[in-house]
Amino acid sequence: MAEEQNAQSLDSAFYQTANTFFSNQAGTALTYDDLTLATLYSEVLPRNALLDTELAGGLNLHIPLISADMDTVTESQMAISMALNGGLGLIHYNMPEKQQLKEVSRVKNHIHGLIQEPITVSPNQTVGEVLERIDIKRYSFSTFPVVDENHKLAGLLSGNIIKPRYNSKLVSEALVPRNQVQTIKESELGSDPITIADHFFTENPGINKLLVVDDEDRLRGLFTLSDIERITSEKKALFRPARDSHFRLICGAAVSTPRKPDGSLNRNQIEAHVGNLINRGVDVIAISTAHGHTKGVGDAVQLIRNAFPNINIIAGNITTAEGVEFLADKGANIIKIGQGPGSICTTRLVAGVGIPQMTALYVASQAAKNKGVSLLADGGITKSGDIVKALTLANGVICGGLLAGCPEAPGKVMEISGKLYKQYRGMGSLEAMKSGSAARYGHLKEDNNRKVAAEGIEALKEVSDNLDQTLAQLIGGIQAGMGYLGASNLSNLREKARYIRVSPAGQREAAPHDVVEMKPTQ
Ligand code: XMP
Repeated sequence: MAEEQNAQSLDSAFYQTANTFFSNQAGTALTYDDLTLATLYSEVLPRNALLDTELAGGLNLHIPLISADMDTVTESQMAISMALNGGLGLIHYNMPEKQQLKEVSRVKNHIHGLIQEPITVSPNQTVGEVLERIDIKRYSFSTFPVVDENHKLAGLLSGNIIKPRYNSKLVSEALVPRNQVQTIKESELGSDPITIADHFFTENPGINKLLVVDDEDRLRGLFTLSDIERITSEKKALFRPARDSHFRLICGAAVSTPRKPDGSLNRNQIEAHVGNLINRGVDVIAISTAHGHTKGVGDAVQLIRNAFPNINIIAGNITTAEGVEFLADKGANIIKIGQGPGSICTTRLVAGVGIPQMTALYVASQAAKNKGVSLLADGGITKSGDIVKALTLANGVICGGLLAGCPEAPGKVMEISGKLYKQYRGMGSLEAMKSGSAARYGHLKEDNNRKVAAEGIEALKEVSDNLDQTLAQLIGGIQAGMGYLGASNLSNLREKARYIRVSPAGQREAAPHDVVEMKPTQ
């Protein structure tokens, strides 16, 4: 029979579109490794494949990657780096509200290239004391702004004065005086500070530091020529930082859904929290729970939607078409898919529920199309190939474990048997729930004193490359996948994807096998 078929119909009999493939597999739940994507004729060079994704009106990412709202993954440092790379960070809520607001402000006020809290020295110190501090702190630079006790700029201590010969001199005797130091007012930086700083350095040959001051001449920041040169060369890169309409980095934040003693949602507290986040400029609010298709989550989404008609809401988690419709009808515009796939999750073991990701994504995507909402594949991503598969059905992916080892993730590095690790824990682990995330798993804070079934574990991740390098590897993988399918952008990828199941032997074949792998030398 096969000989009688033309090449195209032969291909389509084996490599099926999403509708045909998943309908034929109805009754079996599949995840990333259970299937593979078929290649197609391509004229797309991977490096030219575009990864822009619109999650909601006005919420555009240049890479479809989001860092999870987990207390060992996303605070301001991670969110800033994610946005600088074109993605989005969701700041977790296992911290006092005041601190979460500060974290959001740090992201929204971040000016790339501007060192916002430069190391300063005081006029009363000696050069010897400055030298000692450089030695102890191992600073790699030796030029310091000099500020008085009110943080007013007094001058600049130049690197060529920082020598043992001048040890006994006071900084006030050795500095370049204030009237000879080049500064710019913070209010003059406008919406594109990098261009302004770049222009300044071109017009002032030989000067490689530009200090930023406020109207009272207090120091507010520092630009260096080398940072600006690096950033202007990066500007030509394909993946621009993800910014809002005011040129600020975008940032998301998770909110909990606290209840009053009578069990009803604490409306005032939720509204006040979201209102404060919006005042700080947050771009999207996330309501992350283990079970999003519930009255409680629906009421919380509806409450926020009614109080703040224009805010983008991510809600979840669900794995059914009805769950998508429910949350969309309540007012969510971005829906998280994933129950139990996470690397630190034990929901499926503890509760016996949850659906492997590709099937869950397919089912949800059908409802999402009808409702005009976008989907995020949340959890279970262990390699770039998983992301390519997820993006055939979703508009973005949320990563926890893949990013938790980066230096930008919160938490200290610890050394165990000569290897460096960082903590990574489920938000449903006992310790995380004690810190605030109990409601996410349907428990009350007070429940901590009695037995509750944890749905997550505490774990370690080996310290990995920094976020820029980690994302570069993932982006390279996604673009490679798109090149194989001839997809020049993500909507092309969704249209073109064709799937086939992989047998256990096929899965073994997919990874390196029958060789002794050589580790690259450091
Ligand atoms: P990965 O696989 O990227 O997963 O590490 C991150 C996602 O896992 C979810 N999450 C949990 N799920 N118990 C769960 O069942 C937990 O304790 C837990 N903590 C996080 C969450 O959706 C996250 O984005």
